[in-house]
Amino acid sequence: MDNLFNSKESVLDKIEKIVGVRPKFYNVDLLDFSGLEKVFDENEFEAVIHFAGLKAVAESVEQPVKYYENNISGTLNLLKVMQNHSVKRIIFSSSATVYGEPKSVPISEDLLTGQGITNPYGRTKYMIEEILKDICVADSDFSATILRYFNPVGAHESGLLGEDPSGKPNNLMPIVMKVAKGEYPELSVYGDDYNTPDGTCIRDYIHVVDLAKGHIASLNKMSAGVQIYNLGTGKGTSVLEMINAFERASGEKLPYKIAPRRAGDLPELYANPEKALRELGWRAKLTIDDAMEDTMRFLRQN
Ligand SMILES: NC(=O)c1ccc[n+]([C@@H]2O[C@H](COP(=O)([O-])OP(=O)(O)OC[C@H]3O[C@@H](n4cnc5c(N)ncnc54)[C@H](O)[C@@H]3O)[C@@H](O)[C@H]2O)c1
Repeated sequence: MDNLFNSKESVLDKIEKIVGVRPKFYNVDLLDFSGLEKVFDENEFEAVIHFAGLKAVAESVEQPVKYYENNISGTLNLLKVMQNHSVKRIIFSSSATVYGEPKSVPISEDLLTGQGITNPYGRTKYMIEEILKDICVADSDFSATILRYFNPVGAHESGLLGEDPSGKPNNLMPIVMKVAKGEYPELSVYGDDYNTPDGTCIRDYIHVVDLAKGHIASLNKMSAGVQIYNLGTGKGTSVLEMINAFERASGEKLPYKIAPRRAGDLPELYANPEKALRELGWRAKLTIDDAMEDTMRFLRQN
């Protein structure tokens, strides 16, 4: 189910090509309660994986009502319909943003959340996590798995599926892809004077296929109550290292300039992913170079 705000129905053809099965699809908005009811009336679900949301951080600062309505009201509609149909298992796409400004790295799941979040997008993730925890208190059969993504990158190895955002992208790799395609003249690297080995910010970039597999591992291990896992690699990579890796995969120089620091950017964020390994038997296996090669294949084919 998707309202196609940031996706295309043609993706279904590509999924069918890869897995040999065409997923049943509904073009429905989470804010359309009766549309949602119809989806649940017509199908029997064992569990819901809830990815749908708006995610542009800067836009969320400018248009908070839109973000709270889409992400919070949309999720509440989904949870109400799940309740009406006795569907009691949900996996939710949360974000490392909920940690706000963590005091130390690597970040473990038991760190305090909700403090120092700098934007409405991040707050919607935090609020939805709290809503899910409350439901698990009220209903001892309900199962909610919260997956806190670090920085997803890459594409499917077939080159068929990848990131192709509709609006102005916010994250590093979609911008790198636009620069590589010549749609943007250059990449801005926000700050090279941080206290990191090369002065640029360090993040935990995780291949999107590893991330997807984290959902399958979670689905196979669901039990009543709230489970929370970081989905990250545990390894930090700087912006300059990402640019170098992209250049290795593309064989071309990526034009970039050093720009002033952005307010709110923290020097270094990466996950402690041990809990997911211990409890789900999942860990990220693909490298940054894998992600860059897959991104290049997606770019060339699309
Ligand atoms: N990409 C990241 O860096 C990142 C990091 C942490 C968390 N997340 C979260 O993971 C989830 C998936 O992210 P993504 O990068 O694949 O984003 P995406 O925009 O590609 O996917 C979200 C999908 O939800 C759909 N959608 C949005 N609002 C909807 C609504 N009201 N009804 C129905 N469909 C709706 C969009 O059309 C889109 O296809 C999001 O919830 C995002 O916040 C993403």
